[in-house]
Amino acid sequence: MSATMEPIERASREELQALQLERLKWSLKRAYDKVPHYRKKFDAAGVRPDDLKSLADLANFPFTAKADLRETYPYGLFASPMRDIVRVHASSGTTGKPTVVGYTQKDVDTWADLMARSFRAAGIGPDDIILNSYGYGLFTGGLGAHYGGERLGAAVIPMSGGQTEKQVQLIQDFKPTVLLCTPSYALTIADELARQGIRPNDTSLRVGVFGAEPWTNEMRREIEQKLGIDAVDLYGLSEVMGPGVACECVETKDGPHIWEDHFYPEVINPQTGEPVADGEEGELVFTSLTKEALPIIRYRTRDLTRLLPGTARTMRRMGKIAGRSDDMLIIRGVNMFPTQIEEILLRNPHLCGHYQIVVSRDHNLDELDVFVELMPQSSDEIGPGQRDDIARDVSHHIKTFVGVTARIHVVDPDSIERVVVGKAKRVIDNRPK
Ligand code: DLL
Repeated sequence: MSATMEPIERASREELQALQLERLKWSLKRAYDKVPHYRKKFDAAGVRPDDLKSLADLANFPFTAKADLRETYPYGLFASPMRDIVRVHASSGTTGKPTVVGYTQKDVDTWADLMARSFRAAGIGPDDIILNSYGYGLFTGGLGAHYGGERLGAAVIPMSGGQTEKQVQLIQDFKPTVLLCTPSYALTIADELARQGIRPNDTSLRVGVFGAEPWTNEMRREIEQKLGIDAVDLYGLSEVMGPGVACECVETKDGPHIWEDHFYPEVINPQTGEPVADGEEGELVFTSLTKEALPIIRYRTRDLTRLLPGTARTMRRMGKIAGRSDDMLIIRGVNMFPTQIEEILLRNPHLCGHYQIVVSRDHNLDELDVFVELMPQSSDEIGPGQRDDIARDVSHHIKTFVGVTARIHVVDPDSIERVVVGKAKRVIDNRPK
């Protein structure tokens, strides 16, 4: 395994920090010199790139948020002229205009290098055959993973998302050893395999690299069992690059290592904006260190997690993402995330990772309904009485651990709508705005 590591992946913290400081100065200067929007914001905050003498000084610089990208839509944050841009991606967003991101040839190369590094961390190499079921198109998942696979020297099958029966046919015929898709879609593929009577260990699949949406370790276990593979967590976001900002190592599976030689992470208190110490929970913030086309300075991801020390690599890890601050639900005054429900549901061996949370309001009171499917093999043996027992048990655990009252509906396999392209929609909030 170690033979496949780049020297920087074993660098000491001191070496890494020296490199970060040098690159950070370059990135701040580039943003200030080339992007009027950044210059305006730095000036308003009374800071100049030269003011950065240490990594900690970054805390004096203003944050960037999605709103900055919207305000300068489509290309206003680009630090390179269009003739140097070779690729544009966009994230759809649920409301308003998409956020647009651009890459120079060097950026696209760095991205491929970091995705290849991510794959190596996941235990993947040139002999592997990769079924890439992340969506191709404006979404960064498909192409980002694609070029990383090629850079690694693996064989990439550009399947994209959707057409689940065809996915299974390709798994059977093309014998991929690696599956790439969202974790929720991995479960959908697993179900289709099972429906066709194919057992987990009868496929050629060996590893899955899953991301683009929050998932729990309980979900990991279910995917690993149903597909007979190792499931590894891949993190990224388009504003910062795309997939490959951080990736888990297969030998430890203890949270994605952030590729800190290219992205400087901070975790802040989302209310005050103050950085918190490593290990403390807060909002993840990234500053790009090498990007040419779109230097991103202190970008507020809205993802809630904490920074952890390195293990399999010296670079720091992030904890599994509890959720995005946008996804936080407030139910009768109690803050909660869908992942907390997922964790509890999947501790019950009869329930599976296909679930949906519906929030409504009745006489000014929030109501929470959770629909969850039975495991296919459990559905034959479990009668209505037993379903009620499971529902009661789960509801009790949710009350105890999350602090909210939820009505649990244990439903038949395949009765909750599948998202076959894009990210799972775990919550339907029917409350009046
Ligand atoms: O989802 C990039 C990506 C593609 C990552 C494929 C991994 C695999 P966006 O569409 O811009 O980019 O969405 C980024 O998705 O801020 C997180 O909220 C969420 N997210 C991404 N990866 C993970 C993960 C891609 N491993 C947003 N765990 C991020 C939890 C994730 N959430």
